[in-house]
Amino acid sequence: STGPLVDAFNRRISYLRLSVTDRCDLRCTYCMPERMQFLPRKEVLSLEELHKLSLAFIERGITKIRLTGGEPLVRRDVIELVRAIGRKLGDGLDELTLTTNGTQLEQFAKDLAAAGVKRINVSLDTMDSGLFEKLSRRDRLNRVLRGIAAARDAGLKVKLNTVALKGLNEEEIPFLVEWAHRHGHDITLIETMPLGDVEEDRVDHYLPLPAVQDALEKRWTLTASDYATGGPSRYFDIAETGGRIGFITPLTNNFCASCNRIRVTATGQLYACLGGAEKVDLRAALRSETPDELLADALDEAMRIKPERHHFRIERGAAPAQPRHMSLTGG
Ligand code: GTP
Ligand code: 5AD
Ligand code: SF4
Repeated sequence: STGPLVDAFNRRISYLRLSVTDRCDLRCTYCMPERMQFLPRKEVLSLEELHKLSLAFIERGITKIRLTGGEPLVRRDVIELVRAIGRKLGDGLDELTLTTNGTQLEQFAKDLAAAGVKRINVSLDTMDSGLFEKLSRRDRLNRVLRGIAAARDAGLKVKLNTVALKGLNEEEIPFLVEWAHRHGHDITLIETMPLGDVEEDRVDHYLPLPAVQDALEKRWTLTASDYATGGPSRYFDIAETGGRIGFITPLTNNFCASCNRIRVTATGQLYACLGGAEKVDLRAALRSETPDELLADALDEAMRIKPERHHFRIERGAAPAQPRHMSLTGG
């Protein structure tokens, strides 16, 4: 069909998360093993294909596109794609954005802003360079901080993403929040999700966010905000810091009932749910003799197979909900 994307649970899908590469220059311990096996480059969609896909989604009522990875900015030609998709802003597309680890932002911030990006999400789990190196297995904190400053200077609104980790950055969370707010950034805390095997049992560092929120409420005054970005984060204003904090709680308070998202891997596999195995092959459709028809069919199929919810559990010895890593599906 050609109409808007609505799934079997009557959820309107308007937000596409499009991964442009599964590669990354960091190796965050909760995300991937040190010796991560990346996809052969020949499997990955070309820029033209990613652009064509984006246009097809916009035709079907997608109004928000977020480029993800892996790390989207390690793909050499990504800015060309941002420019190409950016031409649809105001013409079907309301927001084009990306989620990045920040290591290459110093180089790309101005180009992103010039292409129409207004707002980006940057991962920052700690401000301690020793802990940063332990968590990401790379010594890049200062580069990330320079990247965040460059983004702000380029006029981009920066939201920080912090995965809350027991015994690692737990004690630092109030400081991270203060730092973010002092620099004019929103910050969102995220519960660790069981996607792909890593070299640790995620249960060891799993930190349920309701307890973190309680602790923050002893320190500060949090008021539920009606600010919404169309993502899964629920926001609160903090009176004392004058800033905003978000909570993404897939484990303790799942937000699937209001899901408006689908995600596509760098090889063109559409996963209807971050936690599900259900997928359709958009690359095969794109590369067929009748791409327009087959893409339309594939998107209809995606709406039929999108599951009601994920079933994440973090328990000792439990296998991941899915064998694929977050870096493949882009979160
Ligand atoms: P905003 O536009 O700022 O709302 O961004 P966002 O929160 O949608 O995107 P971001 O890439 O910053 O993702 C933050 C976290 O939310 C990541 O850990 C994602 O994996 C997670 N996330 C996004 N969508 C979903 C979802 O549908 N289900 C689950 N479980 N997690 C999601
Ligand atoms: N669980 C929760 N968040 C994760 N991220 C990467 N892997 C995981 C995981 N297993 C985070 C990154 C980034 C965001 C896109 O997802 O830190 O901030
Ligand atoms: Fe890279 Fe993001 Fe995974 Fe860290 S969480 S290794 S920055 S893809």
